Amino acid sequence: MKISKDLNYAINTQIGHELLASNIYINMAAYFNSLGLLRLSGMFFEQSDEEREHAEKFIHYLLEVEGEVAVPAIDKAHNEFKSVKEAFELALNWEKEVTSNINDLMSIAIEQKDYASQDFLRWFVSEQVEEEATMNHLLLLAEGLGDLSVFMLESFIPQK
Ligand SMILES: [Fe+2]
Ligand SMILES: [Fe+2]
Repeated sequence: MKISKDLNYAINTQIGHELLASNIYINMAAYFNSLGLLRLSGMFFEQSDEEREHAEKFIHYLLEVEGEVAVPAIDKAHNEFKSVKEAFELALNWEKEVTSNINDLMSIAIEQKDYASQDFLRWFVSEQVEEEATMNHLLLLAEGLGDLSVFMLESFIPQK
C-alpha cells in the first residue's frame, strides 16, 4: 500500500460525497425539466455525470496506489426545491463544502509528505474553483432576473 490508512479512509469518504453530488444534480435536473427548463436540465444531467467521473477518478487512484476501495453508504439526495434560485443556492453551498473536503484531503497529504497524492489532488483543487464559479454565475443570473423572469435563464445556458 502506497497510501496511508488515514488518507485512504478520507478518500473513500470523498467518493461518497461525489456520488451524493451526482444524485443531487440528477434531482435538480429533474426539477428543472419539470419546469420546462430543458437546457438547464441538460446542463445538470451533465454536471451529475461529471460528479460520477470525479468519484471514479478517486477510485482509480486508490487502485493505482494499492489502497482499499470501500464505497460508503450514500445519504438521501435533497429533492425538494422551492425555486430555481434555491436550487442554485444549494448547489453553490454544496460545492463550497466539497472544496473544503478537498482542501482537508490536501492537508492530510501535505502533513504526511505524500507528494503523489498532493499531485493527484491538485486537479480537484482547480476543478473546485471552476465548479464554484459555475454555480455562483447561475445564482447571480437568477438573482438578477428575479423569480418571474427565471425562464430567461434558458437563453444563458450554452446549447450543445
Ligand atoms: Fe466533484
Ligand atoms: Fe462539483
